[in-house]
Amino acid sequence: MFFMANWKMNKTIGESESYAERINELLEGEETKHTIVIFPPFTALRSLSEHLKGISVGAQDIYYEESGAFTGEISPIMVREAGASYVIIGHSERRRLFGETNESVQKKALSALKHGLTPVICIGESIGEREAGRTINIIKEQLGYIPKDKKVIIAYEPLWAIGTGRSASSEEIEEVHRFIKGIIDAPVLYGGSVNSRNSGEILGIEGVDGALIGGASLDADEFFSIIKSAK
Ligand code: PGA
Repeated sequence: MFFMANWKMNKTIGESESYAERINELLEGEETKHTIVIFPPFTALRSLSEHLKGISVGAQDIYYEESGAFTGEISPIMVREAGASYVIIGHSERRRLFGETNESVQKKALSALKHGLTPVICIGESIGEREAGRTINIIKEQLGYIPKDKKVIIAYEPLWAIGTGRSASSEEIEEVHRFIKGIIDAPVLYGGSVNSRNSGEILGIEGVDGALIGGASLDADEFFSIIKSAK
């Protein structure tokens, strides 16, 4: 199973080092049959990658060019050098707040693959799209832009479930995961209000290969409880 912690714009370098200490302590002596990845802010990538034991780190975004006049952007080569082996692409917050499109998601995914980063590509429908019965169409459209590469990981994150405390139902998750797996042969993670109280049930759903966790991953003990809830 995959357990991915998306810290979003949270934690300084100092805070991420304390977190690393705690999660190392919790995981010590545990069997590591899972893939665990933490996505800190760019500034903490390097130090976190040096402090964690048996956990990978990833970037929350990249730009698709390697270098050049792109003020404020960061390239796949730079995050690799800082220790990242994964990258989140197309998170709904980037789509909604920062103008990310299916086209830019595609370019970034291809660039990540070219530079040896595993892209964790986020897709999902809004509440309006779900209520209009358009979920499957939206997912299909988003999937159309995703490279069919065996390194790709998909995260299904219904927008209305992110940071709201309202996760999708088991039936809703199972239906979408089944649909995605019919189109692309990739691990499919669920994301959206996963916590240690609902993770056991969510991770037990057919077609769920792990979770992308935001808010609940900010606390090392809570993140560890989610990992432990996997059967
Ligand atoms: P959440 O965020 O767990 O806080 O809902 C998930 C995500 O945005 O990846």
